[in-house]
Amino acid sequence: MNRNLLATCILFFVGMPLGSFAGSQEQEMSQMMHHSMMDHADDGRISLGLSAKMKRHQLANMRSHLEAIQGIVGLIGKGDFDTASELAHNRLGLTEDMQKMCNMFENENFRNLGLQFHKSADHLAEVLKTKDANQSLQALSETMGYCVQCHATFRQ
Ligand code: HEC
Repeated sequence: MNRNLLATCILFFVGMPLGSFAGSQEQEMSQMMHHSMMDHADDGRISLGLSAKMKRHQLANMRSHLEAIQGIVGLIGKGDFDTASELAHNRLGLTEDMQKMCNMFENENFRNLGLQFHKSADHLAEVLKTKDANQSLQALSETMGYCVQCHATFRQ
């Protein structure tokens, strides 16, 4: 075998898997782009059309909601219903601050869903005071139903 031929063979065999790798990468890339287009444009949820500042504010508020839920579940597990009740009211209930925040949104259905959610958290706070774990978990599930419903309906 002369040298050039050998080099060509090596290139051919080395080139093959590289070529097919590049192909699958391209496919992956187009899938990713498709997914991100779905995320940002046409996944069927209603956009709230928020400004960048409102978006940041909302996400921070949401992360705080999630943290509160974690706290409440942990406190129910420990049997500390009084602290769980305070947490439910202070962090998720319809406090004056929450009311103000909800009123900043233009979309009326979103606003109403938000208010119902905060009211259900106040109901949860009341149920927690009974120190009944089963009823408390049931009420928590109802409150979390609003998280699920709103996320399925609206996006930023
Ligand atoms: C009235 C509507 C509404 C309710 C109720 C609601 N959320 Fe959200 N939440 C949103 C919207 C809108 C977004 C942004 C979603 C998007 O644009 O894809 C969001 C985003 C989030 C995020 C993402 C935060 C981030 O930093 O990316 C978390 C976590 C979250 N919500 C948790 C919760 C939890 C937990 C509850 C209930 C205890 C809850 N939310 C209730 C509307 C709501």
